[in-house]
Amino acid sequence: MKTEHENFKNDFQTPINVARYMVSLIPNESRTVLEPTPGLGTLVKLLKEYNVTAPEDYFLLEKQRWDTIIMNPPFALKYTNIENAPLERINKGMKMGYQILFECMQMTDNVIALMPWFTISDSDIRLKSLKKYGLKSLTALPRKTFQYARVQTVIIELVRGYKKDTSFKVFDLLNSGLEYTEPELFSNH
Ligand SMILES: C[S@@+](CC[C@H](N)C(=O)[O-])C[C@H]1O[C@@H](n2cnc3c(N)ncnc32)[C@H](O)[C@@H]1O
Repeated sequence: MKTEHENFKNDFQTPINVARYMVSLIPNESRTVLEPTPGLGTLVKLLKEYNVTAPEDYFLLEKQRWDTIIMNPPFALKYTNIENAPLERINKGMKMGYQILFECMQMTDNVIALMPWFTISDSDIRLKSLKKYGLKSLTALPRKTFQYARVQTVIIELVRGYKKDTSFKVFDLLNSGLEYTEPELFSNH
């Protein structure tokens, strides 16, 4: 029987314009870049000018330092290939996605991560940890970012030691390539 991960393995790729935006956030001085869970490799294809590591299995990756880590990890356990994951690194539900983010934060000083909005909204402790690391910006993405899931997502830009205010941005919805119609705010219906 197929695992949930096998069913979804090629889905949820980052839309190209969102991926381009994420790549534009990589600090200028970065040379080595990790994409920890590449799937079909939408992000990787845009990283040609960097020395990129994109492992087939994140859990077989040796812990080391990268200038930047750019990621759109599986958001939950059911979308994660845990074939080679040691028990202590397997977390239930969405905790799996958060864990990949926090593990990656230990291997770099710069993280650009596409994550579910819950990452910042449903735990003050988690938000505090991100802020403590250095939360440079948050970019709200359209609800229709993924073809198969209406999940509210956000790009989290982390720079270790960043202490100034976090900027809040909204992804360029009008030029996102996604369908957009004016809402009828004052309709009687
Ligand atoms: C939300 S998708 C994003 C794919 C890609 N990072 C992108 O940005 O387009 C998450 C990806 O993680 C992959 N994945 C799941 N478990 C993994 C693992 N243990 N190692 C590497 N990749 C994994 C899935 O196959 C899926 O393609």
